[in-house]
Amino acid sequence: MKTAGGSDAAKRRAGERGAEEVEDGFVVGLGTGSTTAYAIEAIGRAAEDGLEVRGIPTSFQSRQLALEVGIPLASLDAVDGIDLAIDGADQVDDDGNLIKGGGAAHAREKIVDSAADRFVVVADPSKRTATLDRSVPLEVLPDAHTVVADRVRELEGDPTLRDAERKDGPVVTDNGNLVLDCVFGRIDDPDALATALSRIPGVVEHGLFVDLADATYVGTDDGVDALEY
Ligand code: A5P
Repeated sequence: MKTAGGSDAAKRRAGERGAEEVEDGFVVGLGTGSTTAYAIEAIGRAAEDGLEVRGIPTSFQSRQLALEVGIPLASLDAVDGIDLAIDGADQVDDDGNLIKGGGAAHAREKIVDSAADRFVVVADPSKRTATLDRSVPLEVLPDAHTVVADRVRELEGDPTLRDAERKDGPVVTDNGNLVLDCVFGRIDDPDALATALSRIPGVVEHGLFVDLADATYVGTDDGVDALEY
């Protein structure tokens, strides 16, 4: 689930700093969310000015925005590789491990972000933490949601099926699946939890991104802090 927090100005600075890394001829992974939207808009302006770029969207939202701002799109199976992925996060720890999936897009995000030569996170300061402790979203096959919830409880997590806001019933992802938001408290070993969650049959993808990010740009009141890992 999304948190409110982080000013639009901070998000804009972070997103636009991420977009500055795009070079002529790049294939770019286009993440999802309000911070990445500023990066996509900046890439669109650069494309209008003649930058050659192709985007791989990670969600319906990023695809729509990329089309609106005029970024030519490609699909994963039509490119040789991804030069750069730019994506937001719901939480970033000091080692660059992430919790993502507040917008339920983390399955495609993880595929694209992990396939990129370089993956940069764009975030406002409210996303930073020493230790990850937000709920971890799991995208699950609809038939499996109760058995996955039982397995999460065995891992001492507390799962909640994510409800839609302007539809009766649950959130349905871009891939037609459901989302369980799972509270584990403080996550001292994200790698171990990620491995345990990946082993549960019926989990399409979880929102722990361990050791995937190469850098985070944090927009602040007056600039951008760049953290390299
Ligand atoms: C989408 O599912 C998420 O992983 C987003 O990337 C994340 O929620 C960041 O979004 P904001 O930039 O809107 O906070």
